[in-house]
Amino acid sequence: MRVLTVAVLISGTGSNLKALLDAAADPDYPAHVVVVGADRDADGLAHAEEFGIPSFTVPYARFASREEWGAQLHEQLSVWHPDLVVLSGLMRLLPAAVVDAWTPRIINTHPAYLPEFPGAHGVRDALAAGVSQTGASVILVDNGVDSGPVLAQERVPVFVGDDERTLHERIKHVERRLLIDVVRRVAQGDLDLAAASADAAAHR
Ligand code: GRF
Repeated sequence: MRVLTVAVLISGTGSNLKALLDAAADPDYPAHVVVVGADRDADGLAHAEEFGIPSFTVPYARFASREEWGAQLHEQLSVWHPDLVVLSGLMRLLPAAVVDAWTPRIINTHPAYLPEFPGAHGVRDALAAGVSQTGASVILVDNGVDSGPVLAQERVPVFVGDDERTLHERIKHVERRLLIDVVRRVAQGDLDLAAASADAAAHR
């Protein structure tokens, strides 16, 4: 069995990364995380270390522009020749050149039912809107903000008394399951990212 090689980019605690690493520890899982990258000294890098996976950091603050940061990130990623790049809580917009270089082999997880509540505060915005359900999505990355084609998504209820933390945690449970499933389907050839990307382009 050919195993799909995956690079994961994070900014935060990396709990979704950890879930993917746990899944990939099963020899029957058809994907393997080959490297973890971050735009800062993210807590989640500890998960890479725990699993013996190489990691790198390209600190955004050290570069004069988003483009220069992105070019360095791209260079670091390229060293590993990943089949797939997963943005798992990377809280930075990638420059277009980087997105274009990896399209359609770059996906993102988002804590809302896109196209509802895109952007950096999907959970907070859903709470502020007073909706009774929100969701989790896995999408193909394009050059918009959380605007790429949806690969998988599921509704998540909002409960009375929820705050951003409790709701985000409920969403992340679903996000992890969706992410693990999407990566598995890509690896098995059941989900064709090139076709999803071409289909979205045809309907623009
Ligand atoms: C996830 O909800 C992701 O969709 C969002 O940030 C969160 C990352 O959580 N962009 P973690 O770092 O995996 O715990």
